[in-house]
Amino acid sequence: MHLLVLHGPNLNQLGTREPQIYGSTTLAEINATLERHATAAGATLRTFQSNHEGALIDLIQAEAAQSNGVIINAGALTHYSYALRDALAATKLPVIEVHLSNVYAREAFRHTSVIAPIATGQIVGLGWRGYLLALEWLLNQAS
Ligand code: DQA
Repeated sequence: MHLLVLHGPNLNQLGTREPQIYGSTTLAEINATLERHATAAGATLRTFQSNHEGALIDLIQAEAAQSNGVIINAGALTHYSYALRDALAATKLPVIEVHLSNVYAREAFRHTSVIAPIATGQIVGLGWRGYLLALEWLLNQAS
């Protein structure tokens, strides 16, 4: 079992970026927690963050064939990147979309996800634990 964990623009700043909205846990801490849980379950992860749409797409294209599922918080790209959505759809892998904040309780532009229609599921508003729930789901659907 090998999973991709993708983080989009500005998520490298977790911990200091608007902590009242996104929490004070850093991206390194989130990735380390996911790695620990994946290892305990006998799975491997490829974690990747980029502020660049094309870099995320390149990574998806390079890794999809060796992967069994994707966890993605695409940041603001969620709301408008058809290119990222198409790259995810082309993998035919289960995709779990995660948002730290409850995007539906925020500005109207955050209420639209162009990724949600091709995702298996979406977890919003549960902070960093949302990633862990996504991981649990992907690990369990394999068994
Ligand atoms: C986010 C929500 C997005 O609207 C925002 O642009 C982010 C983070 C979240 O995790 O809550 O960068 O994806």
